[in-house]
Amino acid sequence: MLYPQRNKFRHYIDLSGFWDFRFDPDDKGVGENWRTGFNNSCPIAVPASWNDQFADDRDFLGPAWYQIKFKKPWDRENGKTLIRFGSVNYLSDVWLNGELIGRHEGGHLPFEFDISNKIVSEDNLLVVRVDGRLSDKHVPPSGTPMNYPQTNFDFYPFCGIHRPVLLHTIPKKGLRDITVQTSIKDTTGIIDVTLETNGLNEAYTTLTLKGFGTEIIDTSKIENDIQKMALEVNGAKFWNTESPNLYDLTVDIVKGDFIIDSYSLKVGIRTIEVKDDKLLLNSKPIYLTGFGRHEDFPITGRGYVPALIIKDYSLMKWIGANSFRTSHYPYSEQMMDLADRLGFLVIDEIPAVGLTFGKNVIERQLELCHQYIEELIKRDKNHPSVIMWSLANEPHSSLKSKEFFKELYNKTRALDNTRPITIVHMMAVKDKAFEFCDVLCINRYYGWYMQPGKIDEACEILSKEMDKLYEKHRKPIILSEFGADTIPGWHSQPPEMFSEEYQTEFLRKYIGVCRSKPYVIGEHVWNLCDFKTSQGIMRMGSMNHKGVFTRDRRPKMAAHMLCKIWKK
Ligand code: GCU
Repeated sequence: MLYPQRNKFRHYIDLSGFWDFRFDPDDKGVGENWRTGFNNSCPIAVPASWNDQFADDRDFLGPAWYQIKFKKPWDRENGKTLIRFGSVNYLSDVWLNGELIGRHEGGHLPFEFDISNKIVSEDNLLVVRVDGRLSDKHVPPSGTPMNYPQTNFDFYPFCGIHRPVLLHTIPKKGLRDITVQTSIKDTTGIIDVTLETNGLNEAYTTLTLKGFGTEIIDTSKIENDIQKMALEVNGAKFWNTESPNLYDLTVDIVKGDFIIDSYSLKVGIRTIEVKDDKLLLNSKPIYLTGFGRHEDFPITGRGYVPALIIKDYSLMKWIGANSFRTSHYPYSEQMMDLADRLGFLVIDEIPAVGLTFGKNVIERQLELCHQYIEELIKRDKNHPSVIMWSLANEPHSSLKSKEFFKELYNKTRALDNTRPITIVHMMAVKDKAFEFCDVLCINRYYGWYMQPGKIDEACEILSKEMDKLYEKHRKPIILSEFGADTIPGWHSQPPEMFSEEYQTEFLRKYIGVCRSKPYVIGEHVWNLCDFKTSQGIMRMGSMNHKGVFTRDRRPKMAAHMLCKIWKK
């Protein structure tokens, strides 16, 4: 799914700003035809969650309605006009001028609708109904009454239009998709480009690759809607975490003497593979240091905040992290673009967290996981920073999970045979689905949820269990979560739980275990920052305090320790 661009053939306007908004606690908006416009509204910021923008109603999860008016910004007889949502959590119905143009389920991936035949030149009214209410048939699913809102996952279920809404236009006949796969032979980089076009005949494609003093041009006749081309870059500057070299690839569609469509994207030439228990980036072993994270901030909730993305990358650079996992859902396209530009390795995860495989929900949950992995790979397949797909976080493993993940693994492998696939499993669970993984990711909290207060004993258990897991599967292991809730400013000697000293010692000793295992290829601390959760007796102030930074990005003692270890 090509992100909208601005050039002579394509254009977009960003509808971010203040929209009209209204809660619909009696769910009467559909019956009262709010789709044609509604009154008694208040202003709301888009993109952002609605939960923290008002004085009350924080825990109202929907339905709620948004509306905005706009004039048609262009007249292009050979162009299509689409409306694109970066992400809306969780269910959205979209109307234009009172007509339903589509609906989408899933809160973390983009979707768009063709409105060419519905948009009018004067005032257009876009209305969106968003429903964030939890359900055991959703992914991620609702949970037990142990917390409120009743999530089966450990983060607050923020709702709303979370990423930019773009009105964009593309040529009716032109480029529909581009897939880039890179490989390396000695000092030569090979860029395989697959182009999807539609409705073109007697047309040509011209690829122009620029970067580092190189300019390579290749042209080929379009024979059908799927076309493969390859560029060889001698003496290529490869992409890696130290030197995230990116080339500029422009794809022009030429008919007669005229270019009729054009799209530009960044290309990083790199390879990623699992071999002999190592993760190889450009055929060299790479060890992942970094974090599990969340898209989370006061007031904006899960909304897209450009300055926060820059801040988090600055902190991860400062601390010596080279990677992160998009726990527990895909992050914004803008964050992925910056991972390419700044040289971070990303484990890209679909929102399959807290799956329980209940017999009355497993079918729907599998359908949604299929949808999400398709949407995710369509969106993120061209990022050099994406090195692995994660199919789930902590599925409650059961016999059914084996079939479930076998099917999902095969689907993912069929969609992308260039990246390793993993599933993230929780502590001491029968890891039935691990056999379908190329890399094993495990979340372990011995010394916190079990053996509380006893870090040395916890590390002994962790060490023995890792060896056993490796003996059984003979696959490399990433410790994808480990951490301790820590109240900033809380100190104790000797270290005790919730103190900064305890978190520092906990992380340091866990890292010591990781470094003693040749088959461990990475350590991701849980979490980069404190983040908001549902209310519950396990979460003081409805917060998970395992961050090495506070929610407003101030370092705890452990951050300085990690900086010393990771930057050595
Ligand atoms: C789990 C889970 C996280 C959660 C963490 C914790 O491993 O993956 O989402 O926040 O444990 O309990 O802190």
